[in-house]
This record gives sequence, structure tokens and C-alpha cells, in this order.
Amino acid sequence: MAIRFDERVAIVTGAGGGLGRTYALALAARGARVVVNDYGGSVNGAGASSEPAERVAAEIRAAGGEAIANGADVTNLAQVRDMAAQAIATWGRIDILVNNAGILRDASFAKMTPESFKAVVDVHLLGSAYCTLAAWPHMRAANYGRIVMVSSTSGVYGNFGQSNYGAAKMGLVGFMNVLSIEGAKNNIGVSALIPTAATRMTEGVMSEKLRDLIDPAAVAPALLLLASEEAPRRAILSAGAGGYARTYVLETEGVWLKAGDRTPETLAARLAEISDKSTLHEYETAAGQAGKFLRKAAADAGISLTG
Ligand SMILES: NC(=O)c1ccc[n+]([C@@H]2O[C@H](COP(=O)([O-])OP(=O)(O)OC[C@H]3O[C@@H](n4cnc5c(N)ncnc54)[C@H](O)[C@@H]3O)[C@@H](O)[C@H]2O)c1
Repeated sequence: MAIRFDERVAIVTGAGGGLGRTYALALAARGARVVVNDYGGSVNGAGASSEPAERVAAEIRAAGGEAIANGADVTNLAQVRDMAAQAIATWGRIDILVNNAGILRDASFAKMTPESFKAVVDVHLLGSAYCTLAAWPHMRAANYGRIVMVSSTSGVYGNFGQSNYGAAKMGLVGFMNVLSIEGAKNNIGVSALIPTAATRMTEGVMSEKLRDLIDPAAVAPALLLLASEEAPRRAILSAGAGGYARTYVLETEGVWLKAGDRTPETLAARLAEISDKSTLHEYETAAGQAGKFLRKAAADAGISLTG
């Protein structure tokens, strides 16, 4: 069945260019009414302009879609609340939120300033939290919502010079995990997307020939799936250059040690067993993981966990 967004209202942050623009156009092409948000600054967050958001909103309308522009800075809670109010005043609902806005302030950690660390965490992590705080009550009241956090391999796997960005982007995975649990009873699906695409953010990283292969349009299908009614819950999808994969946070079964054996030397001796990838498991909740250790401790102590 075709994935459509008729009657759905989507807010896409940072949609004045790059990947966000592609997401906004793709959502609108499938029927969504889109709030095109962009603060309109440079790649490191300097300056501001309403023009990029207005241009993309006009582009959507010219193609027969419905869109309004919004110039909120996602780190400004009052502006973000006004953005949500604008969506509600215009179309009466917020079904989809794509937390895409982002900046870069790359530096090796030896040269990282506190200001650069904070600025990047503020836009990616705090900005996503503010936009979600503004949309959440409307989604709960409607018993429907889809929220996509835009994460990055720089956080999940690491990338030289991006400690601020990596911390914020992996923070969004934690944010997504908790909201997936809290949103489930109101049919609010929360997921994360890890894109790779040629945008101003990745300029100079590779040759022009290779950049042609990482067209932002190739990421849009993954965003559309995560924004749809059919979205897998709590999924991290990665997409780039026509490749699509799922990213997991996993943990090995590990070992359980009796009190007298709990030494770093024992851990060193049994590290291969502790690290055995053949036992990897995905936990749905924090309690699920804690239960694994507790069950073993309780069994050894002869205590029943079921009371
Ligand atoms: N391009 C990639 O390969 C790649 C890889 C991993 C993650 N990402 C993420 O994808 C998202 C989009 O990045 P892009 O590559 O399209 O870069 P981009 O610079 O073209 O897009 C980011 C947009 O966010 C806007 N923005 C920045 N700060 C804002 C703020 N405070 N409020 C509102 N808007 C703001 C910018 O004006 C810009 O239009 C970012 O979150 C980025 O970290 C991109």
C-alpha cells in the first residue's frame, strides 16, 4: 500500500536547505501539510534569515502542496512554542515532527572550546527536546504522533573532531529510547535516522564524483517510512547512497560472578567471554537489562523474583 500523509501535519526543523528541504518536499509530495522551519544561519550557526524557509515553503506550494515557513531558532523555547502554535492555528494538529536542524563546530577535543561544545549540544539535543516538548501535548491529545530524531554515525561510531556533535547525536538516541516507551500508549512512535548525504555540512569531505552518489534524495525514503503510520517503533535506520540499514544498541550476555570472584583480574581473564558477540541481545527497557543480572544474583541467593 502506498505510504501517504494526506491530512497529516508535519514540522521539519532545519528544512531551509540540505536534507531537511528534501524531507519537507518528500512529505508534501505525499500529501502532508508542512511547517518548513529554518533559522537560516551558516553551517556553524552564525547569522539568521527567514529566506531559506520561505523559499522551500514556496517551492512546495508551487508544486501544488501545502506549506508555511517558520523562522524559529530551535534553541529558543518561546519561538519553538510559537511554531507549534502556528501549526495548530493553521491546520489544527501536529502529527509529525522531524528534528533535523543542526550546526557544526568541529575541532579536536584539545582545541574544543566550551562555547563550541555547548552551541552544538544546544541546537541538536536541546533544540530537539524543545521542539518535542512543544509537539508532545498535541500528539498525546490526538493519540497519534511520529517523531524522528536525526542522529549521526559520528555519535554512534565516532568521528575525529566531532566530540560535541557526537555527544549530542548519541544523546538523541537515548532521548528516542525513553520517548518510545513513554509515547507508546498514545500511539506516538519515536525513531532515529542516520543520514549520509552531500550537503553544505559535508562539503570538502570527499570528491565531487563521490558526492554525486550521496544525493540527499536517497535518504528521503527512510525518513518517509519513519514518519508514516507504518513506522517501526524505536528503530534507528541509517540511509545513504541508496543503502538502507538498521542500527542497534546491543549487549552481550556477559558473566555472573560470585562475591569473592568480583575482581578486575577475573574480569580481565574472562574478557573474551564477557565480550562474546554471539550472545548479543537487544533490551527493550532499562529494567529488562537490569533483570538479566538480578535474575542470576537472585537464583544464586535462592530468592524468587516473582515473589
Ligand atoms: N549530511 C550528512 O551526511 C549528515 C550526516 C549525519 C547527520 N546529519 C544531520 O542531518 C541534519 C541536516 O543536516 P544537513 O546535512 O542537511 O546540513 P544543513 O546545514 O544543510 O542543514 C541544517 C539546517 O538546520 C538549520 N539550522 C541550524 N541551526 C538551527 C536552529 N537553531 N534553528 C533552526 N534551524 C537551524 C540550518 O539553517 C540548516 O538549514 C543535521 O541534524 C545533521 O547533523 C547530516
